[in-house]
Amino acid sequence: MRVFITGASGWIGSAVVPELTGAGHQVTGLARSDAPAAALTAAGAQVHRGTLDDLDGLRNAAAASDGVIHLAFKHDIAFSGGFQDAADADRRAIEAFGQALAGSDRPFVIASGTLGLAPGRVATERDGNGPDPAATPLIGGAATRRGSAQMTLCLAVLAPEHKPHVLLPEPHRALL
Ligand SMILES: NC(=O)c1ccc[n+]([C@@H]2O[C@H](COP(=O)([O-])OP(=O)(O)OC[C@H]3O[C@@H](n4cnc5c(N)ncnc54)[C@H](OP(=O)(O)O)[C@@H]3O)[C@@H](O)[C@H]2O)c1
Repeated sequence: MRVFITGASGWIGSAVVPELTGAGHQVTGLARSDAPAAALTAAGAQVHRGTLDDLDGLRNAAAASDGVIHLAFKHDIAFSGGFQDAADADRRAIEAFGQALAGSDRPFVIASGTLGLAPGRVATERDGNGPDPAATPLIGGAATRRGSAQMTLCLAVLAPEHKPHVLLPEPHRALL
């Protein structure tokens, strides 16, 4: 399977890439500088040079793949006062991937977070969505970030042949 992955050099991506290549998949990773590009090559993956803001590049890379794993996030600006900008860029990237994968059965996976969810109960895609007594309202950055996860979940509703997944790293858990 040809897999396009963003955030390949990150904490999660650096574990996912060798897992995929080791299982015989053809991996292409997004890299915005030389060091992550070299790491991808060393792991047996191809390199797609670009950034999260190169939406045409993301669309093209997704169109050439059999599935996309989106793990890049602008943590550098997110945690220096620009969380909204980082979340907006994330949502635009997800929208671009959705456009490229529309009408296909190619899987699309993103990672999100569970910060802001109530501990001690199973979270669902309804959390943060209005006056549902079973759902937990999200707060702060988690609420901003929810837009990305919601857009991914909407792809499944609008195009059921899609197989989008939202992975929640703490603890690891899938909503779909
Ligand atoms: N790790 C966790 O416990 C955790 C918890 C909650 C949510 N998440 C979410 O899971 C996803 C992956 O997390 P992570 O811990 O693996 O993140 P990470 O280690 O911070 O890695 C971030 C990745 O994004 C890339 N990136 C950042 N800005 C970019 C840009 N403008 N263009 C292209 N690539 C860019 C980085 O590339 P460079 O190498 O070039 O910097 C890096 O590969 C993120 O969405 C994160 O918010 C993770």
